[in-house]
Amino acid sequence: MSKLWGGRFTKETNKLVEKFTASIEFDQKLALEDIEGSLAHVEMLGSCGIISKEDAEKIKSGLKSIRKKIVAGEVEFSVADEDIHMNIERLLIEEIGPVGGKLHTGRSRNDQVATDMHLYLHKQTKEMIELLEAVQGGIIQQAKSNIETIMPGYTHLQRAQPISFAHHLLAYFWMFERDKERLQDSLKRINWSPLGSGALAGTTFPIDRNLTARLLGFDTVYPNSLDAVSDRDFILEFLSIASIIMTHISRLSEELVLWSSQEFDFIELDDSFCTGSSIMPQKKNPDVPELLRGKTGRVYGNLIGLLTVLKGLPLAYNKDLQEDKEGMFDTVETLTGSLKLLAPMIETMTVKKEKMYQAVSQDYSNATDLADYLVNKGLPFRQAHEIIGKIVLYAIENNKYLLDLTFEEYKQFSDLFEIDIYTVLMPKQVVEARNSYGGTAFSQVKLQLELAEQKLNLY
Ligand code: ARG
Repeated sequence: MSKLWGGRFTKETNKLVEKFTASIEFDQKLALEDIEGSLAHVEMLGSCGIISKEDAEKIKSGLKSIRKKIVAGEVEFSVADEDIHMNIERLLIEEIGPVGGKLHTGRSRNDQVATDMHLYLHKQTKEMIELLEAVQGGIIQQAKSNIETIMPGYTHLQRAQPISFAHHLLAYFWMFERDKERLQDSLKRINWSPLGSGALAGTTFPIDRNLTARLLGFDTVYPNSLDAVSDRDFILEFLSIASIIMTHISRLSEELVLWSSQEFDFIELDDSFCTGSSIMPQKKNPDVPELLRGKTGRVYGNLIGLLTVLKGLPLAYNKDLQEDKEGMFDTVETLTGSLKLLAPMIETMTVKKEKMYQAVSQDYSNATDLADYLVNKGLPFRQAHEIIGKIVLYAIENNKYLLDLTFEEYKQFSDLFEIDIYTVLMPKQVVEARNSYGGTAFSQVKLQLELAEQKLNLY
C-alpha cells in the first residue's frame, strides 16, 4: 500500500519505523472528533468556493458513512497509514474515489490533530464536571445524616478538637467545588479553534476560520497559526487539574482507609466496595480507596511526562507532540473511573456514630474550651494555656480525662473555675461552642449544607 505522502520517496518505510512512528493504536480514540472536524472543514471549503458544493456534499456523505461503519465496529485501521487522520482519509478515498483527496485542501494534520484534541477534551471536561457533581451529591447525602455526629478532629493526626462528621465530609465538598470551577474555567481556553492554521503558517486558500470554529462550537480562533499548532497548554492544564482532583480523592481515600481500620473503627465500607484476602479469612480490605490513592501516582506521572515533552520544544510542530495523547487518554480514563466509584462508595458507607463519640469521650480534645473558659473569666489566653497544660498533665498522670477530675482538683489550679465547667467540657457543648462562620457548630454546618446544596442546585 503506497503512502498518502509517498510522492517524494523512493524506498519503502522500514517496518520498525512504521510501527514506531504510528499512533493509530491509541489515536483511534479520536475517530469521531476527527470526522466532526473534517465535516466542518469540508463544509467551509464548499461554502468559500474552494471546492465545488457537489464535491463537498460527496465528501460529507462519505465521511458520514465511514462514521457509521466505525461506530458499528466494522472498520479496521492500519498501522501503515500511521494515524487516525490518514486512516480516515484513506477510507474516504476508498469510499468515494479520488474526490475524497480534496478533503485535505487548505489543511494540515498539524491543525487537524490539534482540533481533534480540543474537541475531545471539551467533551471530556464537561463529563468530568458532571461526575464531580455526583461525588458532591454523595457527600451531601452522608453529611445530611451526620450533622450531629461528633468525631475527633485532628491536627498532626493527634486528637485536636471534636467536630461534626458532616463538617469533615463537607471539607471535601468544597475541594471538589473548586475543582469544578477549575475545569469550567479551562473550557475558555479549550474553546479556541486551531483549525485553518495549516502546517504552521496558515494557508494560501481563502478559508473562513470563523465558520469552522462556529460549526464546531468553538468560542474563538487562535490568532497565531504557529501557536495554534504548537500549543498543548490546554492539555497541560487538564492534566494539572486532574492531578489536583486526584490529590483530593487521594486524601479522602486515605481517611477512608484509616477510618476503616480497627484502630479507628469510625466507618465501615459497604461489602460491595471491599475485597477479601486469599489467605486470611477474617480480612475485609478497603481496596477501592487504596487503589484510588495509588492511581494518583500515574496521573501525576502523566502531567510530568507532558511537561517534559514540551520543555525545550522549538516551534512549530514536532513529532514529539504525538506523545501528548496516551497520558491524556489514561488520565481521562483513570479520573472517570475514580469519580464513578467514589460517589456510591461514600453514599453506601456505614458511619459508626457511637464509636466516634466514644473516641471524643476518651481524650483531651476539650482542653481548648477549658482555656477559653478562663479567658472569659478575664485571664490572658497565654496564662490560661499554661494552667490548662498543667491540668492535662496532672490528669494524664492520674489516669483521668478532664471530665473525671473533681471540682476540688480544679480549684487547686485556679480559683476562677466554677461548677459549670462540667457542661463546658461536654463534647456536644465543645462542638456547639464553635459557632463562628464556617465553624463546626451544628447550626453553622446546617448553613454550610444549605450553601452546598445551592451550589449543586438541589433546591
Ligand atoms: N499523529 C500525529 C500526532 O499525533 C498527527 C500530526 C502529524 N503531523 C506531522 N506533520 N507528522 O501528532
